[in-house]
Amino acid sequence: MEFEEIQKRIKQITENPIRMIPDETMVKIRKEIEKKCPKSKDLYDEMKTCIPGGYEHQMVINDPFPLTMTRAQGSKMWDVDSNEYTDWLSGAGAVILGHNYAPLREKIIEVLQDVDPALYYTNEWELKAIKQIKKHVPSIELFKFYQSGTEADMAAIRIARVYTKKKKIIKIGGAYHGWSDQLTYDMHVPFSGDMESHGIPSSCFKDTIAVPPNDLKKLEETFKQFEKKKGIAAVILEPLGPESGNIPVAPDFNKGVQELCEKYGVLLIFDEVVTGFRMDMGGAQKYFGIKPDLTTFGKLLTHGHPSAGGLGGREEIMTYIASGIEAQKERVIATGTLLGNPLTAAATYWTMKYLEKENAIEKAAKTGNVLTAKLNDLFERHDVPYFAYNFKSVVQYKTYAAINMDIRIPGNIQQALQRNQAVGRIATAMLSQHKITKRGATAFTTLAHSPEDIEDFIQSFDAVLKMIPN
Ligand SMILES: Cc1ncc(COP(=O)(O)O)c(C=O)c1O
Repeated sequence: MEFEEIQKRIKQITENPIRMIPDETMVKIRKEIEKKCPKSKDLYDEMKTCIPGGYEHQMVINDPFPLTMTRAQGSKMWDVDSNEYTDWLSGAGAVILGHNYAPLREKIIEVLQDVDPALYYTNEWELKAIKQIKKHVPSIELFKFYQSGTEADMAAIRIARVYTKKKKIIKIGGAYHGWSDQLTYDMHVPFSGDMESHGIPSSCFKDTIAVPPNDLKKLEETFKQFEKKKGIAAVILEPLGPESGNIPVAPDFNKGVQELCEKYGVLLIFDEVVTGFRMDMGGAQKYFGIKPDLTTFGKLLTHGHPSAGGLGGREEIMTYIASGIEAQKERVIATGTLLGNPLTAAATYWTMKYLEKENAIEKAAKTGNVLTAKLNDLFERHDVPYFAYNFKSVVQYKTYAAINMDIRIPGNIQQALQRNQAVGRIATAMLSQHKITKRGATAFTTLAHSPEDIEDFIQSFDAVLKMIPN
C-alpha cells in the first residue's frame, strides 16, 4: 500500500468513533481463557512472587494473564496446559527461519560441545561471523558485538559524539531504540517527550532531540539551529519508521535524512535491530539504497540466541571503540563480559548462512504480502475502516491507530489510551483463538508460516471482527 493511501486510511480511522469489543464479550473471552489455561493462571500467581508484575516482556499479552509457554517449533508454540498457538510475534521479530529451526540448533549444539561461551578470549567464530556481515552489508568496515540492541544503540551514540566532538543526538519521535537513559525519550508515541522517562534525571536527555516522523523540514531547521552551538553528532532512526513502521516511513525520508546529514556533517545511524536481516541480507539500508555511517543490530543477528547485539560502520569511526590499553587516547568505553562469545558469534554466522540458503527473507516476505492482502479483503468484507500494509515480513494492521493520534491536541491522550485498550482487546480475543500477535497490531512472518496458518489467522480475525458492534 502506498504511503499516501496509508496516511489517508489512518486519518479515516482516527476520525472514526471507537467501537471496541464490548465488556460483556470480554468477560466471556477471559473466562474461556481461564478455563483453557488453569496451569498458566496458577503459575502466573506464583510468578508474581518472583518477577515484578509476574512476567518479563513488554509485548506479552497480559489480559487476562500472561501464559506460560513450554515449547516452540516452526510457527507454533505450546503452553503449560498443552494448548497450541500460532505465533505471529516470532520472538518480537528475532525469528525468521521459524522457531527452533533444526539445522541452526544442531550447529549451535556442536559449537557448545566444543567451546564454553565464557571463553572471554577472541575466537574464530567472531571472524567468520563478521566476514559474513561485511560481505552482505558494505557500509560495515569494522564490527563489534554487543549483548543487546539497547547496548548497541548506546555505543553508537557514544562513539558518534567522540568522533564528531558534538553532543546532540536526534531521534525520530515515537521510535524505540532500547531503554538506555538518553534514548528513553519521546518513545512509542510522537510528542510524548519524557512521559515514559521515569527514574531518568532530565539532565540525561538534555542532548536528545526528537524530530517528528517524516519531517525533513523540521530536521533541517534543527540542524541549522544547533550548527553554531554544541552541534548535532548524529541522527538515529528506525528505517521503516518508528515502532518497526507502525508509524510508516515516507518513501523519500531516509534518502532525505542521508542528504541532510551529508550537508551538515552529521553522522547517520541506522538502527537495524528489527530490519537487519529481515528486509534484506544487506539490511534495510540495501532496500532503501542508503549507506549509513553506523548500523546497529540485534534480534535476528543471532536468530534470537543470546546475546543479540552489534554495532558496525566506517573504520575511522569504529576505531574509537577499540579495546585494550594501547587503543587511542579518546577511546570509547563500551564493553561487556559476554560480547562476541562463541555462542553468539556462531549463531550469527550460521543464521546468515541459513537465511541465504533458505532464501528466508524473500519467502517470509511473500507470506507477509499474502497475509496483508487477505487481511485487507477481510476488512473490506466487514466494511470497517481497518487496513493492513507491510514492509516485506513486517505486517502492520491498523484497527484503532492509537499510536497515530496527535497527542498535542487536547483530549487526544485519553483517546489514544482508549484506542490502545481497544487494540488490547483484539489481542486478547485473538489469543482466545490461539493466535499470538504483537499486541494485536503487528505480525512478523517467517519461513515456517504456511498457507494454512494464514487462512487460520484470517478465520480467527473474522470471528473477532464479528464481536465488534457496528
Ligand atoms: C528498533 C529497535 N532498536 C533497539 C531495540 C532494543 O533491543 P534489545 O531489546 O535487544 O535491547 C529494539 C527492541 O525491540 C528495537 O525494536
